[in-house]
Amino acid sequence: MARKRILSGMRPTGRLHLGNLHGALGNWVELQESGNYDCFYFVADWHAITSEYSSTECIKDNGVSMVIDWLAAGLDPVKSTLFVQSAVKEHAELFLLLSMITPLAWLQRNPTYKEMQVELTSKDLSTFGFLGYPVLQAADIIMYKAYGVPVGVDQLPHVELTREIARRFNFLYKDVFPVPEALLTRVPKLLGIDGRKMSKSYDNSIYLSDRGKELHQKVASMFTDPQRMRKKDPGNPDICNVFTFHGLYTPRETVAEINKACRVAGIGCIDCKKMLAARIEEALAPVHERMDYYLSHLQEIYDMITDGNVRATKIARETMEEVREAVKI
Ligand code: TRP
Ligand code: SF4
Repeated sequence: MARKRILSGMRPTGRLHLGNLHGALGNWVELQESGNYDCFYFVADWHAITSEYSSTECIKDNGVSMVIDWLAAGLDPVKSTLFVQSAVKEHAELFLLLSMITPLAWLQRNPTYKEMQVELTSKDLSTFGFLGYPVLQAADIIMYKAYGVPVGVDQLPHVELTREIARRFNFLYKDVFPVPEALLTRVPKLLGIDGRKMSKSYDNSIYLSDRGKELHQKVASMFTDPQRMRKKDPGNPDICNVFTFHGLYTPRETVAEINKACRVAGIGCIDCKKMLAARIEEALAPVHERMDYYLSHLQEIYDMITDGNVRATKIARETMEEVREAVKI
């Protein structure tokens, strides 16, 4: 029996950080490695234009560096299909057809739409394309008749809309599309080095590519328990971001020791952070090895993307045949 299909995408916004690695990307790798699914992961470059339409010059390069980060993190182009949205023009055709049947009200009440309008005041996002963002996303997903869409909670409204749009298509024309499920990624609450949410826009991220001195400096500058001013003050690991990271990178017994020692001022934050930096460095070593390899073999990346695009296009064409027949066009 054919394996169930998984599909997910990321906008090419730049280098990925440890928050991405332990969130979405880690989950993608796990789904791939489970061997239970046929995974499709793509660079959502058209989606990037919805907000970056006035400065599109970085989108292409960002897409390539993102794919390098994916491979460095363990995605394997033999096991998964990695492709670029804009290379599969069928997405645009399906988007157009879905836009015909999507009520405006569904889009206007989309919480991400409302939030972005409020948050990104520096950009004019009152465009047709931005409102239609979830319709394009729906096209991405149902094009591959995906069973599951691994995403973080922030994307739930979009998957919900996708489900509604798929049902509406099936109802109006013909039962072409399975209704996809969101596969929620549990994202550990990783904060940036300044204690705010780790985000590229806050300039507080530890990147997959960080290593050596840079990595150690970033870890050394991480916020800790704010009540702990001096080494002789006891600390509270429960509210310390450094400790949260230890939970991900340090063997359990050592984490338990740090937990105890911190509470009785038996360990200082400087040492605690040095230990953490060493652990992260160790864990990222294979990631950096793959990254270096691909950075010096860019042609392999281009070939791999071309191959993924071909694989994705084949399925997209089959789906569009069915879609045109259903719509009678
Ligand atoms: N909107 C998603 C994000 O910002 C990216 C995306 C585009 C996506 N198309 C998708 C995710 C299809 C999952 C499935 O992260
Ligand atoms: Fe955080 Fe470690 Fe300092 Fe405790 S010793 S407050 S866990 S950095």
